[in-house]
Amino acid sequence: MNFAVISCGILLCFLYLCVKSNAKRNWDYEFLNFKPTSSDENLLNVSSRFENGELGKPAISGYIDWKYDVDENTMTEMKIYYSQNGRESTYSELPYTIPKMSYYDFLDQYWMKLIYPFFEDCSNLPSFDKFVPKWPKTTYLFDKCRPEPTSAPETMPRGYYRVVWNIIGPATFNIIIDVKLTPTGFI
Ligand SMILES: *[C@@H]1O[C@H](CO)[C@@H](O)[C@H](O)[C@H]1NC(C)=O
Repeated sequence: MNFAVISCGILLCFLYLCVKSNAKRNWDYEFLNFKPTSSDENLLNVSSRFENGELGKPAISGYIDWKYDVDENTMTEMKIYYSQNGRESTYSELPYTIPKMSYYDFLDQYWMKLIYPFFEDCSNLPSFDKFVPKWPKTTYLFDKCRPEPTSAPETMPRGYYRVVWNIIGPATFNIIIDVKLTPTGFI
Protein backbone atom coordinates (compact mmCIF):
# COMPACT_ATOMS: atom_id res chain seq x y z
CA MET A 1 0.00 0.00 0.00
CA ASN A 2 1.39 3.39 -0.80
CA PHE A 3 1.93 6.20 1.66
CA ALA A 4 -0.77 8.46 0.24
CA VAL A 5 -3.43 5.81 0.74
CA ILE A 6 -2.35 5.15 4.31
CA SER A 7 -2.15 8.81 5.26
CA CYS A 8 -5.57 9.51 3.77
CA GLY A 9 -6.90 6.74 5.91
CA ILE A 10 -5.40 8.33 8.99
CA LEU A 11 -6.82 11.74 8.13
CA LEU A 12 -10.23 10.21 7.58
CA CYS A 13 -10.14 8.46 10.93
CA PHE A 14 -8.87 11.55 12.66
CA LEU A 15 -11.53 13.91 11.38
CA TYR A 16 -14.27 11.35 11.11
CA LEU A 17 -13.90 10.35 14.74
CA CYS A 18 -13.96 14.00 15.69
CA VAL A 19 -17.25 14.45 13.91
CA LYS A 20 -19.14 11.29 14.49
CA SER A 21 -18.18 9.53 17.65
CA ASN A 22 -20.43 9.93 20.67
CA ALA A 23 -17.73 9.14 23.19
CA LYS A 24 -16.95 11.95 25.59
CA ARG A 25 -13.80 13.76 24.68
CA ASN A 26 -11.43 15.09 27.28
CA TRP A 27 -10.08 18.03 25.35
CA ASP A 28 -11.34 21.28 23.93
CA TYR A 29 -10.06 23.57 21.24
CA GLU A 30 -9.76 27.24 20.66
CA PHE A 31 -9.64 28.99 17.29
CA LEU A 32 -6.48 31.06 17.08
CA ASN A 33 -6.65 31.96 13.46
CA PHE A 34 -9.13 31.40 10.66
CA LYS A 35 -7.99 32.96 7.45
CA PRO A 36 -9.60 32.24 4.10
CA THR A 37 -8.20 34.05 1.08
CA SER A 38 -8.83 34.10 -2.63
CA SER A 39 -6.35 34.93 -5.37
CA ASP A 40 -9.07 36.66 -7.39
CA GLU A 41 -12.17 38.21 -5.79
CA ASN A 42 -13.92 38.40 -9.14
CA LEU A 43 -13.89 34.61 -9.46
CA LEU A 44 -14.23 33.62 -5.84
CA ASN A 45 -14.78 36.04 -3.04
CA VAL A 46 -14.57 35.15 0.59
CA SER A 47 -15.15 36.95 3.83
CA SER A 48 -15.22 35.70 7.41
CA ARG A 49 -15.48 37.03 10.93
CA PHE A 50 -15.45 35.73 14.47
CA GLU A 51 -18.63 36.01 16.49
CA ASN A 52 -19.73 34.87 19.88
CA GLY A 53 -21.58 31.62 19.46
CA GLU A 54 -23.18 29.40 22.07
CA LEU A 55 -21.71 29.68 25.56
CA GLY A 56 -19.64 32.61 24.42
CA LYS A 57 -17.35 30.38 22.38
CA PRO A 58 -16.03 31.95 19.21
CA ALA A 59 -17.83 30.88 16.08
CA ILE A 60 -17.24 31.72 12.46
CA SER A 61 -19.61 33.46 10.13
CA GLY A 62 -19.05 34.62 6.60
CA TYR A 63 -19.52 33.67 3.02
CA ILE A 64 -17.86 32.26 -0.06
CA ASP A 65 -19.12 33.76 -3.27
CA TRP A 66 -18.29 31.09 -5.84
CA LYS A 67 -18.32 32.56 -9.32
CA TYR A 68 -16.21 30.26 -11.52
CA ASP A 69 -17.05 26.93 -13.10
CA VAL A 70 -15.36 23.99 -11.42
CA ASP A 71 -14.17 21.43 -13.96
CA GLU A 72 -11.94 18.36 -14.02
CA ASN A 73 -8.85 20.58 -13.88
CA THR A 74 -9.85 22.10 -10.55
CA MET A 75 -7.58 20.60 -7.90
CA THR A 76 -7.49 20.49 -4.14
CA GLU A 77 -5.07 19.55 -1.40
CA MET A 78 -5.04 19.59 2.41
CA LYS A 79 -2.19 19.46 4.90
CA ILE A 80 -2.05 19.42 8.67
CA TYR A 81 0.82 20.75 10.75
CA TYR A 82 1.53 20.37 14.43
CA SER A 83 3.53 22.33 16.94
CA GLN A 84 3.93 21.74 20.64
CA ASN A 85 4.32 25.38 21.58
CA GLY A 86 2.78 27.31 18.65
CA ARG A 87 5.98 29.06 17.64
CA GLU A 88 5.99 29.61 13.90
CA SER A 89 9.29 27.87 13.20
CA THR A 90 8.30 24.73 15.07
CA TYR A 91 5.32 23.56 13.00
CA SER A 92 5.96 20.29 11.26
CA GLU A 93 3.83 18.50 8.73
CA LEU A 94 1.82 15.51 9.91
CA PRO A 95 1.11 12.53 7.72
CA TYR A 96 -2.60 13.39 7.93
CA THR A 97 -3.04 14.78 4.47
CA ILE A 98 -5.14 14.82 1.37
CA PRO A 99 -2.72 14.71 -1.55
CA LYS A 100 -3.30 16.97 -4.51
CA MET A 101 -6.25 15.52 -6.37
CA SER A 102 -9.08 16.73 -8.58
CA TYR A 103 -11.81 18.58 -6.74
CA TYR A 104 -14.37 16.19 -8.23
CA ASP A 105 -12.55 13.19 -6.76
CA PHE A 106 -12.28 15.00 -3.47
CA LEU A 107 -16.03 15.63 -3.44
CA ASP A 108 -16.63 11.94 -4.11
CA GLN A 109 -14.19 10.61 -1.56
CA TYR A 110 -14.12 13.12 1.28
CA TRP A 111 -16.84 15.73 1.15
CA MET A 112 -19.64 13.91 2.93
CA LYS A 113 -17.36 12.26 5.46
CA LEU A 114 -14.95 15.02 6.25
CA ILE A 115 -16.26 18.43 5.39
CA TYR A 116 -20.02 18.45 5.26
CA PRO A 117 -20.71 17.17 8.82
CA PHE A 118 -18.85 20.14 10.26
CA PHE A 119 -21.09 22.59 8.43
CA GLU A 120 -24.44 20.92 7.95
CA ASP A 121 -26.15 22.90 10.69
CA CYS A 122 -24.65 26.28 9.98
CA SER A 123 -24.31 26.62 6.21
CA ASN A 124 -25.95 26.01 2.87
CA LEU A 125 -23.13 23.82 1.58
CA PRO A 126 -24.46 21.06 -0.66
CA SER A 127 -24.92 17.45 0.36
CA PHE A 128 -25.18 14.50 -1.99
CA ASP A 129 -24.91 10.72 -2.01
CA LYS A 130 -22.69 10.68 -5.04
CA PHE A 131 -21.32 13.88 -6.48
CA VAL A 132 -22.64 14.72 -9.93
CA PRO A 133 -21.24 17.84 -11.64
CA LYS A 134 -21.79 20.69 -11.63
CA TRP A 135 -20.57 22.21 -8.42
CA PRO A 136 -23.10 25.02 -7.77
CA LYS A 137 -21.93 28.55 -8.48
CA THR A 138 -23.60 30.37 -5.66
CA THR A 139 -22.99 32.22 -2.42
CA TYR A 140 -22.25 29.82 0.41
CA LEU A 141 -23.25 31.31 3.74
CA PHE A 142 -21.84 30.36 7.13
CA ASP A 143 -23.72 31.34 10.25
CA LYS A 144 -21.90 30.92 13.58
CA CYS A 145 -20.09 27.73 12.67
CA ARG A 146 -18.22 26.09 15.49
CA PRO A 147 -17.61 22.49 14.65
CA GLU A 148 -17.98 20.47 17.85
CA PRO A 149 -15.75 17.45 17.87
CA THR A 150 -16.97 14.85 20.31
CA SER A 151 -14.01 12.51 20.35
CA ALA A 152 -10.50 12.03 19.12
CA PRO A 153 -7.87 9.36 19.07
CA GLU A 154 -6.49 8.89 22.57
CA THR A 155 -2.98 9.55 21.37
CA MET A 156 -3.81 13.00 20.05
CA PRO A 157 -1.32 15.30 21.74
CA ARG A 158 -2.17 18.68 23.14
CA GLY A 159 -0.70 21.52 21.22
CA TYR A 160 -1.21 23.63 18.15
CA TYR A 161 -2.68 22.33 14.94
CA ARG A 162 -2.75 24.09 11.60
CA VAL A 163 -4.91 22.96 8.70
CA VAL A 164 -4.06 24.35 5.28
CA TRP A 165 -6.57 23.67 2.53
CA ASN A 166 -6.30 24.84 -1.07
CA ILE A 167 -8.77 24.63 -3.90
CA ILE A 168 -6.89 25.47 -7.05
CA GLY A 169 -8.84 26.57 -10.11
CA PRO A 170 -9.08 29.79 -12.13
CA ALA A 171 -8.84 31.37 -8.66
CA THR A 172 -7.04 29.73 -5.77
CA PHE A 173 -8.96 29.45 -2.53
CA ASN A 174 -6.71 29.05 0.48
CA ILE A 175 -7.71 28.61 4.06
CA ILE A 176 -5.49 28.43 7.11
CA ILE A 177 -7.04 27.34 10.37
CA ASP A 178 -5.01 27.39 13.58
CA VAL A 179 -6.45 25.73 16.65
CA LYS A 180 -5.05 25.08 20.07
CA LEU A 181 -5.98 21.81 21.71
CA THR A 182 -6.13 21.68 25.46
CA PRO A 183 -7.14 18.85 27.75
CA THR A 184 -10.23 19.52 29.83
CA GLY A 185 -9.66 16.87 32.48
CA PHE A 186 -7.25 14.27 33.71
CA ILE A 187 -8.92 11.22 32.28
C1 LIG B 1 -15.53 40.84 -2.04
O1 LIG B 1 -15.97 40.94 -0.72
C2 LIG B 1 -15.62 42.15 -0.08
C3 LIG B 1 -15.99 42.06 1.38
O2 LIG B 1 -17.33 41.69 1.56
C4 LIG B 1 -16.33 43.29 -0.81
O3 LIG B 1 -15.99 44.51 -0.21
C5 LIG B 1 -15.89 43.29 -2.26
O4 LIG B 1 -16.60 44.27 -2.98
C6 LIG B 1 -16.14 41.93 -2.91
N1 LIG B 1 -15.56 41.90 -4.23
C7 LIG B 1 -16.23 41.54 -5.32
C8 LIG B 1 -15.46 41.55 -6.59
O5 LIG B 1 -17.41 41.20 -5.27
